[in-house]
Amino acid sequence: MKIAIGCDHGGFELKALVINHLEKRGIEVIDKGTYSTASCDYPVYAKAVTAEVAGKNVDLGILICGTGIGMSMCANKEEGIRAALCHDIFSAKATREHNNANILCMGARVVGPGLALMIVDDFIDTPFSNDERHIRRIEMFS
Ligand code: RB5
Repeated sequence: MKIAIGCDHGGFELKALVINHLEKRGIEVIDKGTYSTASCDYPVYAKAVTAEVAGKNVDLGILICGTGIGMSMCANKEEGIRAALCHDIFSAKATREHNNANILCMGARVVGPGLALMIVDDFIDTPFSNDERHIRRIEMFS
């Protein structure tokens, strides 16, 4: 599995933990930045990750900012992107099963690192259900 990850200054520290966690699991990670805690504009990094996901260069994406809200709003503007803001395990599993979400968004000022890593694991380990009704509903997005 290959994952693209991006963050702004608010998500920089959590992004480093997530990358370390994923690499320990043997998952290939493409880090699209930001690369420091200097203040920056989250849409730049949202677009860098959506390009990787929409271009099918990676299997999934992860975006982290202070709240996860700006990242999810920006990511969902892009064609073919289904970005889900998740701060609990139930939502992380359900959005893969039901919505075939291809980007996980999290807010580093909302969740602690322990829960964030559990959310990441459940998101990437849960397959889409491939259920006809869920496929139909996703196709109705556009
Ligand atoms: C940056 O201060 C903050 O606005 C950003 O990380 C994010 O929470 C936006 O949605």
